[in-house]
Amino acid sequence: MTPPSILILPGDGIGPEVMAEVRRVIDWFGANRSLNFEVIEDLVGGAAYDEHGTPLTDDTMAKAQAVDAVLLGAVGGPKYDDLDFSVKPERGLLRLRKEMDLFSNLRPAQCFDALADFSSLKRDVVAGLDIMIVRELTSGIYFGEPRGIIEEGNERVGINTQRYTTSEIVRVARSAFELARRRDGKVCSMEKANVMESGILWREEVQKLRDEEYPDIELSHMYADAGAMQLVRWPKQFDVIVTDNLFGDLLSDAAAMLTGSLGMLPSASLGAPMENGMPKALYEPVHGSAPDIAGQGKANPIACILSFAMALRYSFDQGEEADRLEKAVENALADGARTGDLMGPDGGTPLSTSGMGDAILKALDETL
Ligand code: NAD
Ligand code: IPM
Ligand code: MN
Repeated sequence: MTPPSILILPGDGIGPEVMAEVRRVIDWFGANRSLNFEVIEDLVGGAAYDEHGTPLTDDTMAKAQAVDAVLLGAVGGPKYDDLDFSVKPERGLLRLRKEMDLFSNLRPAQCFDALADFSSLKRDVVAGLDIMIVRELTSGIYFGEPRGIIEEGNERVGINTQRYTTSEIVRVARSAFELARRRDGKVCSMEKANVMESGILWREEVQKLRDEEYPDIELSHMYADAGAMQLVRWPKQFDVIVTDNLFGDLLSDAAAMLTGSLGMLPSASLGAPMENGMPKALYEPVHGSAPDIAGQGKANPIACILSFAMALRYSFDQGEEADRLEKAVENALADGARTGDLMGPDGGTPLSTSGMGDAILKALDETL
């Protein structure tokens, strides 16, 4: 049998730094668990622009469509701030999401006990936290038409359009209900039905799907602004949150801080099943290219490593190995492994990116 294939797109800034640690983890699974992958690597974002004048070539796009899973580091950075909008690094990532039709973006926020005192919130509020934000990823205001910057009399006008069809709402809501069935059976849907028609449709369709096909799920609705407040007031009230593209972007960065650092949050972007029954998928940390610490070996690789754990679970049907990797991360943290983002100013000497990689590989060895 040919091994499953992975396309690695390290990208920009800290992307290549954190991805180097993921490659060590992939090699560990090959050497110790007979889990072998065919790994190919390519460019995305600013790195692809520098080489090809585009943030994603058609060739790379075709590779992404052909593999079993894509792993991406991060894209963007100040070097590319003045580029034309159409070739900005972020456009490469958005094209991947859109053309692979990765409509369901899973962003879990889990607080490891060892970090409960490090969150900016009180230990009580975050200890034991395990929530899943499901962000719609291929529609909404990120992609709606009309869009652009136009002249209107003496004014320039920037235009973006929030637009959702029933099928776009239903398919992401379905993925949230399915996830909730395997968790605590609760979904909270967030929109702004009080001010946006797209929010009214969102609420109606999510409720209808629940009533017709998921009566076992406890569904609630919240306005997204109130949801943001509740997320920091008492996050443990939530199990699965389902929301649109833009609200999901904001809420998941906020949720990251419940876990201690943005450097902790992984994500899986899933589409429709492929021929082998597994979903089209791209895995990436929630964080960006972190230009302020790039090139210094300071980045926390955990978000990217946990994204690979999600790949093991959702693309390679290796739930037990995913558990093993997540446990190793938890154990390394419990042993005191900390990159700089996980310490206060007086916390001592932080581990480097590869130092954290070492700690996680050691913890993996100890699971054998
Ligand atoms: P960012 O997530 O890159 O950084 C925000 C802050 O978090 C910074 O202080 C950074 O040092 C810190 N941080 C992020 N990841 C970390 C890690 N793994 N370890 C330690 N600290 C970490 O967000 P930003 O500064 O707003 O954006 C920078 C660039 O990244 C922009 O070009 C943006 O468009 C891009 N971006 C890309 C992605 C992606 O590729 N998926 C996601 C978000 C932002
Ligand atoms: C994210 C990022 C992206 C987004 C950018 C880089 C396109 O912020 O993945 O959260 O806005 O979706
Ligand atoms: Mn974001």
